[in-house]
Parts: sequence; structure tokens; C-alpha cells
Amino acid sequence: MYYTIKWNGESVSMIDQRLLPMEEVYRTYTNYRDVAEAITDMVIRGAPAIGIAAGMGIALAAKKTDAKDAASFKKEMEGVFAMFGGTRPTAVNLFWTINRMRAVVERAGDIEGARAALEAEAVGILEEDIKINRQIGKNGARFLKDGDVVMTHCNAGALATGGYGTALGVIRAAVEEGKRIEVYACETRPYLQGARLTAWELLKDNIRVTLITDNMAGHFMRTGIVKKVVVGADRIAANGDTANKIGTYTHSVLAREHGIPFYVAAPISTLDPATPDGSAIPIEERGVDEVAYIAGVQVAPEGVFVKNPAFDVTPAANITAIITEKGVVENPAEKGIGGFF
Ligand code: MRU
Repeated sequence: MYYTIKWNGESVSMIDQRLLPMEEVYRTYTNYRDVAEAITDMVIRGAPAIGIAAGMGIALAAKKTDAKDAASFKKEMEGVFAMFGGTRPTAVNLFWTINRMRAVVERAGDIEGARAALEAEAVGILEEDIKINRQIGKNGARFLKDGDVVMTHCNAGALATGGYGTALGVIRAAVEEGKRIEVYACETRPYLQGARLTAWELLKDNIRVTLITDNMAGHFMRTGIVKKVVVGADRIAANGDTANKIGTYTHSVLAREHGIPFYVAAPISTLDPATPDGSAIPIEERGVDEVAYIAGVQVAPEGVFVKNPAFDVTPAANITAIITEKGVVENPAEKGIGGFF
């Protein structure tokens, strides 16, 4: 059985998601700088998984520091937090983890105590995440009916989390309840998380999955094939506006047009009450080669201008419900996420 990320005591291992589905390779890092680079380079990706990796990277940094007193240790750790904070800007889970790790440093009596507590916190965040996803699944499964075709975008599965997944967790839980669910996985250009990752992990679980290109979504909605849409999230603003993988917004507009329920499944750590609405969510811009090349093959002429925003914002008005481990907000456009804080 594969795993997304694992703590080994003195190192952290993760499956290299850049190579999936063709190769199943695990990378082991002993240096926190390499963990930060692994996040930036997409060895590991997906909002909760990024947070978990950062937590483990921070725990590694604490083990390797040669700081002699509490003040210099704290200063060094602030540098480490800043380095992880600069890896990817959109997924708020990263900053949620950093804040948790900072609070551990503040509470700790001495450097040795801080090291042990940071390690325990990082491992705890991973273990918690898997439980949280199972609860999200339980809370969301009731929205899926036996026989449904459910469309998803990007990868909000086991690979994007500590395990089980958020959007795919809802689907897994419905399947575990005995419902027959078929998933339509959008390929998710430009990085192909749907084609490469969602298809791979659902096949491993024997969940029926059909791959479609992103521009087929409207067709399968209009013809009545797709019954529900479930996606994950990278950051949910106070008013319910939701940043997720680029293309999610388009699907939400199509779903609304066709009267198809559109669900967002995410842990509480993805909710960001400090960000009032979607316009304040930072959107990561990634390299142009992701668009101009597919799997290393150039598909656009040299010299063309290219844009590559990695995320877009779905307005709360297009979301039927936000499913979390603490409960469900139906019609978030009316209520926002305030009920959870
Ligand atoms: O760029 P990525 O692959 O990190 O983007 C991931 C997504 O957009 C996921 O849908 C989101 O992080 C939710 S993961 C449970």
C-alpha cells in the first residue's frame, strides 16, 4: 500500500507525486531545506499534505539546530517558519501548521523540550488529518446517492492529505456505505493532478473512475450524466468564497447553470476567517513551462505569452455546501463560515 508522507524519527519520506502514475518512487529527506524545496517543486502537494510536510520539515529543523540558548533557538525557528511560509502561498493549511508549530516553540521550556514537542506536534498533525478526513467523509456521504456519477477536479484525495482525502474521502465514505458511485475525474490542466493522481488512487481502491478533459465537463453536465460535483479547497474565506485548483470556478458556473449540486469538502484548517472574501486570497502564479509543455513535450510556439495561475476562486453563491469534520454549512453564501469560530 502506498503512503503520501511518513515520519521516520530522523527523516521524512514522501511519494514523489511528480512521477505518478508511471513510477512509484519515495524520497527521504533529512534536511528541512530539502523538505521546503519538495513542497515548492510539487513532490508533495494538496493543501493538507503541504501543511503536514511543513510540520515535519520544521520538526527536522529543530533537531538539527546547534542553537545554544532559547533566544537564538527561537530566532532560528522564525527563519525556518519564514522559509516554509514562502513555499506556496495559496493553501492556508501551510500557515495554520506554521502557527501551531510556533505556539509549540513559545510553550516549550528549553531547546530539548521544544525539539520533542515539535516532533510530537508534526506527527500529531498527520495522524489527526487522517481522522479528520474520515469524519469529513462521514459528514458528506449522505449527499451522494446510490448510482451517482460524481465529478471532481484536481486531486483532493489520499495523496493531497495524510490519507483518505477530503473530496475523495466523501466519495470513499459513500462507497463504504455500499453506494455505487462512479467518478468523473477532470484531467486538470496544466499539471494533470486529475489524470495522474486522482485516477491512480481511485483505481487502487477499485472505485470506478472515468477520465475526462476539463473542457468536457459542460457536455457531461448538460447531457445529465454528472449528478454531483465534489471538490477540495486550498483556502475558504470568511464569506465562503473558496480557492481551489484552477478550473474549479468554471465547473461551479456550469454546475449552477445545470442545477447540479456543487460541494466543497475541506478540514477546518482550510477555513481562513481572517480573509474576508475571495478577492483577498493570494493566487499562486506558476512557471510558464507547465502550460507550454505537456510531459516535457513543447506544445506551444517559442515566444508566446503564457499565464499560469494555479488556483481560482469559486464564489460562495455557487457552492451548495461546505463539508468539514465539524459539520456542514449548507448554502454558505447566506451563512459564511462564522459558525465554526
Ligand atoms: O497545486 P496543488 O496540486 O497543490 O493543488 C491542490 C488542490 O487544488 C486541491 O484541490 C486542494 O489542495 C485540496 S486537497 C485536499
